[in-house]
Amino acid sequence: MKHSALSRLGQRAEAPPISWLIELSLTRPQLISLAAGFTDGETLPVKDARELLCEVLRPGKSGQTALQYGTTAGDPMLRELTARDFRLKDGILDNDAAYSPDRMIISNGSQQMLYMVTEAVCNEGDIVLVEDPTYFVFLGILQSHGLQGRGIRMTQEGIDLECLEATLARLKKSGEIRRLKMLYLVSYYQNPTGVNTPFAKKLAALKLLRQYEKAAGHPIYLLEDAAYRELRFAGEDERSALSARGFASRVIYAGTYSKPFATGTRVGFGLLPGPIYDAVRSIKGNHDFGTSNLLVQLLARAIESGRYETHLEALRRRYAKKARTMLAALRQYFPKEVSWWEPRGGLYFWARLPESVPAGVKSKLFHRAVAQDVLYVPGELCYANDPTRPKPANEMRLSFGGGSEVNIRAGIARLGGVLKKFVGRP
Ligand SMILES: Cc1ncc(COP(=O)(O)O)c(C=O)c1O
Repeated sequence: MKHSALSRLGQRAEAPPISWLIELSLTRPQLISLAAGFTDGETLPVKDARELLCEVLRPGKSGQTALQYGTTAGDPMLRELTARDFRLKDGILDNDAAYSPDRMIISNGSQQMLYMVTEAVCNEGDIVLVEDPTYFVFLGILQSHGLQGRGIRMTQEGIDLECLEATLARLKKSGEIRRLKMLYLVSYYQNPTGVNTPFAKKLAALKLLRQYEKAAGHPIYLLEDAAYRELRFAGEDERSALSARGFASRVIYAGTYSKPFATGTRVGFGLLPGPIYDAVRSIKGNHDFGTSNLLVQLLARAIESGRYETHLEALRRRYAKKARTMLAALRQYFPKEVSWWEPRGGLYFWARLPESVPAGVKSKLFHRAVAQDVLYVPGELCYANDPTRPKPANEMRLSFGGGSEVNIRAGIARLGGVLKKFVGRP
């Protein structure tokens, strides 16, 4: 046959690395995975979920509603509770349109929200600025839609604003600014680096983007992915970009209940400015016309009853402890040539080897690690295909989310043993 019947998207779409990373973790029981972004198994709220589901499914109207289709935007009670919670977290006490439940859409995980927003905003060939490195599954969305990701250098305090400004200036000079649609920030305990972005930096980024809108000829949005916001175990909560006065029409906020409650529920949400809200709701209508009503009702009840908050407190203590375990193991077992960033929330450490030591998917180091039954996420997967710079290949993401403390120590010890064969040799 001369031509494929597949669409351009169908031909371009590649299985994201997360699929084989998770598959490898699940099919080799002896393997210690420091790779998958699984949450802590032992603290999953099985008892809470069972009791709450019994309440939801009690005879009568409540049970019937939960087992019926809901609206495309999702259960009003969950939207109300979520919007109020985020408004208060951002320190806004009065009603503010940016946090209205009418601007909120519940999604199948925040992943679906990221996908729909990208579809609503970008055309093939458009440019999206991303942190360098960023959440690698988002890069898959860009790649499959024929979009270009341009990396903005990261520091331990979030993106480097000088790099953002220089990139915007370059895009303006080349005329490509007309294809720039969004800046995507994983602003809380970032996946993969664990970095938390201060509010002042989000505000500065919004101001910079606005300066270039005239040249772009359209709004340039900040897509704030707050997947790990609730998983803070040290320091204070930072305000979201939504709270930047005068900029709410440019902020798309994506959140999730997957990480803080149960990844199996895959309930996420977005707070979206008007035109994006309408487009995403239509796209969601075409996708599935609404997230599972049963799961949405479960979450609404978990929040309303206070069980969600209680669970979250226990979860934070647990992750703090697991992060300490990983830190102690890194200090004990990793060669001194390896450095890392210490997180104050989320699920990840980001480790950097000497530049001369590749740690990518095709590297000897990665293969040796898998052969020794320990898995990490090669850092190079987290870099956009940005033609303006080479991809660093000497980094790794290490997750303390899913493993037990015993396995975290054993995994880091194993990996440390492998690293010593590659690092620090003449
Ligand atoms: C940064 C980031 N955003 C979004 C998601 C999607 O999570 P979910 O779809 O389960 O809400 C993840 C999952 O790991 C993530 O790390």
